[in-house]
Amino acid sequence: MPRYAYVNGTFARHNEANVHIEDRGYQFADGIYEVVALINGKMADERGHLDRLERSLNELSIAMPVPRSTLSLLMRELVRKNRLRNANIYIQITRGATKRDFKFPGADVPPSLVMTTWPFKFHGNAAVTNGAKAISTPDIRWKRPDIKSVALLPQVLAKQHAIEKGAYEAWMVDTDGHVTEGSSSNAWIVKGGKIITREATQSILRGVTRTAITKICTELQMTVEERPFTLKEAYEADEAFNTSAVALVVPIIELDGHKVGTGQPGPVAKRLYEEYRAYADGQRGDELAWTA
Ligand SMILES: Cc1ncc(COP(=O)(O)O)c(C=O)c1O
Repeated sequence: MPRYAYVNGTFARHNEANVHIEDRGYQFADGIYEVVALINGKMADERGHLDRLERSLNELSIAMPVPRSTLSLLMRELVRKNRLRNANIYIQITRGATKRDFKFPGADVPPSLVMTTWPFKFHGNAAVTNGAKAISTPDIRWKRPDIKSVALLPQVLAKQHAIEKGAYEAWMVDTDGHVTEGSSSNAWIVKGGKIITREATQSILRGVTRTAITKICTELQMTVEERPFTLKEAYEADEAFNTSAVALVVPIIELDGHKVGTGQPGPVAKRLYEEYRAYADGQRGDELAWTA
């Protein structure tokens, strides 16, 4: 069965789909993206992801390429064409293609919209079931990681560093020694019954999964403390985990070679994974509103 991508108004065969060589995403990383999980045929937190997409575009003064309702329909059509029920949907919007020049192009240059999908097996994901290792690395990103920009080189280097050390994720650390977040996930620890994650200011990406988990915790009367935490606190935590739309909730069982807690996926991470799955399956009522 052919695989399809969406590129600027056309559903094209994935291996034939392409963008212009002077697309500003390619030349300047002048664009933003979103990744939405499709779980059992239902888009998890679609509203939160589209809210954040619009926010990222606003922060960079890039226009929405199509109305939001059209984007939703295009996402559904792409999923349908690829006959997917469990997948990740990637949406990328850039400032368009034009002669290379630092300044913004005129209003006659439309933004580019590209979407791809890939199947993803949420059920029985080994990292979720067995837990994963992480390492720490300095956070060398620009000062606006709250914008989901396609300028991901620091995260690429961080992830590669993790892989070369036999780990799954890199936890980035600021100049004060506090953990900011994972290279492609939010970072959490559990200590003495408290679930701790950095507050979502401009220093991290406000994960859509993070927001949902926070609200689920509040509903379940589990205490969430939003504050920076140090690596030492993480080494000594009862549990650690990452959240992201791609892999949902992944227990971190080892950090920089230190066993976290028992060295096995902990009860809080396991429960939050199950609760998030139930929420994504629509068992917790309406989607939780995501606030910027
Ligand atoms: C740096 C960073 N933090 C956090 C996240 C998690 O965000 P979400 O839960 O919206 O996928 C991501 C996801 O790509 C990310 O790249």
